Amino acid sequence: MAQRKILITSALPYANGPTHLGHLLEYIQTDIWARFQKLRGHQAYYVCADDAHGTPIMLNAQKQGITPEEMVARVSVERQRDFADFNILFDNYHSTHSPENKVLSELIYNRLNDKGHIKKRTISQLFDPEKGIFLPDRFVTGTCPSCDAVDQNGDSCDVCGATYSPTELKDPRSVMSGATPVLKDSEHFFFDLPAFEGMLKTWLRSGSIQSEMANKLEEWFADGLQQWDISRDAPYFGFEIPNAPGKYFYVWLDAPIGYMASFKNLCDKTGLNFDEFWSKDSDAELYHFIGKDIIYFHSLFWPAMLEGADFRKPTNVFAHGFVTVNGAKMSKSKGTFIKARTYLDHLNPEYLRYYFAAKLNSGITDLDLNLEDFAQRVNADLVGKVVNIASRCASFITKKFDGTLSEVILDPALISEFQNASESIANHFEGRDYSRAIREIMALADKANQFIDAQAPWVLIKDESKQELAHQVCTQGLNMFRLLMVYLKPVLPKMASDVEAFLNTDLAWESAQTVLTGHTINPFKALMQRVEMDKVNAMLADSKESLVPTVKIDPNSPLAKEPIAAEIEFDDFAKVDLRIAKIAKAEHVEGAEKLLKLTLDLGGETRQVFAGIKSAYQPEDIEGKLTVMVANLKPRKMRFGLSEGMVLAAGPGGKEIYILNPDEGSIPGMRVM
Ligand code: MSP
Ligand code: ZN
Repeated sequence: MAQRKILITSALPYANGPTHLGHLLEYIQTDIWARFQKLRGHQAYYVCADDAHGTPIMLNAQKQGITPEEMVARVSVERQRDFADFNILFDNYHSTHSPENKVLSELIYNRLNDKGHIKKRTISQLFDPEKGIFLPDRFVTGTCPSCDAVDQNGDSCDVCGATYSPTELKDPRSVMSGATPVLKDSEHFFFDLPAFEGMLKTWLRSGSIQSEMANKLEEWFADGLQQWDISRDAPYFGFEIPNAPGKYFYVWLDAPIGYMASFKNLCDKTGLNFDEFWSKDSDAELYHFIGKDIIYFHSLFWPAMLEGADFRKPTNVFAHGFVTVNGAKMSKSKGTFIKARTYLDHLNPEYLRYYFAAKLNSGITDLDLNLEDFAQRVNADLVGKVVNIASRCASFITKKFDGTLSEVILDPALISEFQNASESIANHFEGRDYSRAIREIMALADKANQFIDAQAPWVLIKDESKQELAHQVCTQGLNMFRLLMVYLKPVLPKMASDVEAFLNTDLAWESAQTVLTGHTINPFKALMQRVEMDKVNAMLADSKESLVPTVKIDPNSPLAKEPIAAEIEFDDFAKVDLRIAKIAKAEHVEGAEKLLKLTLDLGGETRQVFAGIKSAYQPEDIEGKLTVMVANLKPRKMRFGLSEGMVLAAGPGGKEIYILNPDEGSIPGMRVM
């Protein structure tokens, strides 16, 4: 078999939130395939990266009071820990916000531009006049133009299902500021996709694309390809377009280029040859694993960009369906929006790898994670069938036969049957029909168990005259177990490596063609625990977010006008010394329009404070009252004298100022925490 050169990718996850079980379907599916190719001896590389750019990431960082770079870095650390803990093994994990990606994005853009594939024209879009940014559809809400339902999305109505452009909404509002958006003109850059229609049709026919995908593409071609808007105006978190100050590449332009950038980064670290994989005449294979929601980007824009910029195109694009949990879309209130980390807090990652593999095929239908079925399936197959073979044979080898396998294979025909399944199972993995591979492996596991049941080594072992037979039965059992684990190794890398330690052998794919005789093994240790429903339920409980409906914030509410500030540490808060103070005296200040002069009694000490509350309070309204003051604020010299602290009050100003009143019983000088 000739060694193939294969570059494999998964979609680059947005650096904008936690990994969840939906994501994991894709990364597990890809990881199994990449591991399989490597085990078959091919030169395969699996690369990925964070998709760091775009408006949502920029705004999310803003809300947290950090830079987008900081946010992306934080999410990346968590993301890579999640992937590693699910035994997802990348050859490289990079970021689209990287020097390699900037260079490659500019290169591709410049080549497209030089060939006349970039068009410019002015378009009119909704703009938030308070925030000073153009609003993506998702950031506009308003009243549905069809059914008058309030609070609907910028692009579609949840009530009547109508789709529309955000400019058609009645009473539109910016989600960010509550302001009424205005239409504003701006010049945008477009990629001339229609110019590639002929090439795309040929390319799509040349590969063995999934039939469901072919249907979708058919529809898109029928609708006619449109020019693709690839620019966004500042402020934007992304790369600035060459020679176009204030214009940035739309996140989806540089995102797939991130595949190349991650590979380039790997090449620079290891000496691999980038051009061998990406040049027009490359003989390497290139595969993108993606979800069905992003087919358009990967099967139309991306190959057209590559073609236009003189790079090779993907060999194939493999789309998968979406994960549902217990038959429904993942839901935060039902506790079925399960984060990777929450799963890991309760359950073994290899259970999920196995369950997904047992259900995956090469199509794009959705995959249901039914948690009862999940527990039942893992327990029946892995614990009940596979591990059971080893646990029933191993201890006799260790206790009675000095840890050494017999020299003779009792039933070579049965072993051959296991060995001969290798190519068929390999074909199923190659074709991403993992469920068929698993079915075939489990049918073999059933045969192994039938053999052991029939031979009953636990009976033989008690009979002095049958020791040799018992030895051979257990040796045969462990050999069959080993072959099953060779085939399961792409799916269960951790268990396979434990089995390698136990059997004292390497589970390479070709090792299936050998038998282990006269070979010393190590004592058997439990390889996998049963899935307990208690733990599954605990995971669901941990995933459940409070049922308090996430209210849409009224744009006129104080929270909408001034969002909650960035999180602080307790120590930061503790630095502020708040005390109960009695307003011993309140006086007008000669010449001051807004200020009252307060003498605050802290129960021993007094402080003089100038407070800007005159528009709302007369001195006699507050004299004698208790309030709360910041007692350790550095004194400030004002025109009218020294101000030695601050009293606490709420409200926007004018008549609307409300001084804090502590509850009855508190006395001047008490600390407020
Ligand atoms: N950043 C883009 C991809 C850019 S690729 C150049 C993106 N990111 S994502 O984080 O939203 O999704 C990453 C991958 O996870 C996508 O392929 C997406 O289809 C997949 N999934 C996200 N939710 C999923 C499920 N519930 N089920 C299965 N796959 C899911 O899209
Ligand atoms: Zn409607």
